[in-house]
Amino acid sequence: MPTNDVVPIYTLAEGCPVADPTTAQRVGNSPVKGLILLQDTQLIETLAHFSRERIPERTVHASAAGAWGEFEVTHNNSHLTSAKFLNGIGKRSKVLLRVSTVGPERGHAETVRDVRGWGMKIFTEEGNQDFVFNNIPVFFVRDPIKFPSLNRSHKRHPATNLPDSTMAKPYSFHNNNQEGIHALMILFSNRGIPASIRHINSYSGNTYKLTTENGFVYAKIHLKSDQGIKNLSQDEANRLAGENPSHNTADLYNAIERGDYPTWTMYLQVMTPEQAENYRWNIFDMTKVWPHSDFPLQPVGKMRLNRNPTNYFTDIEQAAFSPSTMVPGIAPSADPMLQARMFAYPDAARYRLGVNYQQLPCNAPVSEVYTPYQRDGAFRYNSNYGGDPNYVRSSFRPIKFEGRVGANGYAPGGHEEWVGLVAGYSSEVTDEDFVQAREMWKVLGESNEQDDFVHNVATHLKSALPQVQLETINMFKRVDAVLGSSIKSVLSSHI
Ligand code: HEM
Repeated sequence: MPTNDVVPIYTLAEGCPVADPTTAQRVGNSPVKGLILLQDTQLIETLAHFSRERIPERTVHASAAGAWGEFEVTHNNSHLTSAKFLNGIGKRSKVLLRVSTVGPERGHAETVRDVRGWGMKIFTEEGNQDFVFNNIPVFFVRDPIKFPSLNRSHKRHPATNLPDSTMAKPYSFHNNNQEGIHALMILFSNRGIPASIRHINSYSGNTYKLTTENGFVYAKIHLKSDQGIKNLSQDEANRLAGENPSHNTADLYNAIERGDYPTWTMYLQVMTPEQAENYRWNIFDMTKVWPHSDFPLQPVGKMRLNRNPTNYFTDIEQAAFSPSTMVPGIAPSADPMLQARMFAYPDAARYRLGVNYQQLPCNAPVSEVYTPYQRDGAFRYNSNYGGDPNYVRSSFRPIKFEGRVGANGYAPGGHEEWVGLVAGYSSEVTDEDFVQAREMWKVLGESNEQDDFVHNVATHLKSALPQVQLETINMFKRVDAVLGSSIKSVLSSHI
C-alpha cells in the first residue's frame, strides 16, 4: 500500500489500473443503456468482494474496542519467573489490547450490565504472551462443560430471537448453577456497568504456574487501572445506550487521540505448592478469590495504551487471543477451566480466521518464528519455509533447540501427584460457595450500596416468571436472609 504522502493510482485487486471506479460496462449505444457484461471485472470483483467482507463474529465477546501500547517491568520478578519480558527493570514489550462485552453481538450498545473481557497480547523476545482475562476476579462456573450453556442463557431466545430483557433465562441458569453466586453479586452490584474501558481492572481468575529453574509457584494475575474504577448507574447506562451506544469505543479512542494514555499496574498473587495443599479454598476453583489478606498483591510492571488502531478490522477484529499462548516462565496449572480454554480459543481462531491466523500482522510475534512442521493451509502468505525439511529429525538442515523438553507450558516439578487420578466429575454446590458472596454483601453494607444492589437485581427480575423470581430470591437468601427478603419486597411492590 502506498504511504500517505504518495498519491495512489487506483487499480483492481491484481494491479490493473482502471480510469474510473464508478463505471460499469453496459450494452447499447442508445441513452437507455442496460445489461451488464460478465467481462466487467471491476464490477464483478467489487460486488463479489463486498459479499465476503464479514468474517464470523466471535460466539462470545463479539463487541469490542482495542488499542496498541507497551508493557514495562517496574520490579524485580526473577525469583518468581524466568519469563524474559518480566525480567529487567525498565524492559518494554509491545502490547495489543482488545476489551469486549461478552454477550451482545457486534454493534450492540456498549453500556450493558455485562462482564468485560480483556484480550492482551504481549509481543516478547520469546514469542507472544496472551492474557485473556475478565474485569471480575471470579467466574460464574467452575466446570468448563457448563460454559456454552452459561453464555447461551444470556443470549437471544432461540424461538423469538429477542434478547431476554426479563432476565428469566439467565436467572434460570444461575438459580440452578449457584456456584456462580459471587460473580453474580459483582455483576449486579454498582460495579456491574463500567463507565469506560479506562476505568476497569482485569483479573486472570484462572490459576497459572510461574516457573524458574528452581521450581514453580502458583499465581493469579491482576491489572489495576491507574485511572481508578468508575461505573455507571443503570439509568445513566440506559441513557447512553440510546444517545451514544459506542460510548466505550469513543472514550478509549478519544483519550488516546488527545494523548491521555491510560495505564494499568500489573500485580501477582503468589502461592507455594505447600500453601496450595493447605488452603481453605480449592485453588483451581474459579468461583473463589484468594483474599489479599492471605496473598497480598505484588507489583510487577505497568501497561500503557498509546496508539489507536490504524484499521479496526486488521488490528482488532482479526486479533486472536488464547490462554494457551504462553512464553517460557509461565505455565498452565491443573485449573480445569484454564485447561479447557487452552483448547477452545485456538480452535475458535482456526474457524474464525483460518488455520494460518498466527501469520496475520496483528497476531504475528516480533520474535523469529521457525515452525517448519506446520506447513501449507488456507491463506499461507509467508515463505512457507521454502524447501526446508517438513518432517522432524531430518539430517538435511541443522536446527537449534533451546526450549524445554515438553510443551511450551512445561513446568518443572509439576505437583501433578497432588491433583490425583482421572475421574468423571461435576462439582456440587455447598454452603461454602456462599461464604465469599456473603463477605461481599457485608462490604456493600460498609459502602451503603446494599439498596442499590437490591434495586439492580429487582429491576432485572421484575418481569420474570414468578417461579424464576422465587428461585432467585431463595438463592440470595442463602447469601443473606435480609438480602433475599429485600429483593422479595421490592418485587412485590412492583406487582
Ligand atoms: C471453559 C470456559 C471458557 C471457554 C470454553 C471460553 C471460550 C471462549 C471462546 C470460544 C471465545 C471466542 C474466541 C474467538 O472467537 O476468537 C472466547 C473469548 C473470550 N473469552 Fe472465553 N471462554 C471461557 C471462559 C473464560 C474466562 C474464565 C475468561 C476470563 C477470565 C474468558 C475471557 C475471554 C475473553 C477476554 C475473550 C475475548 C478474546 C478476544 O478479545 O478475542 N473466557 N472465550
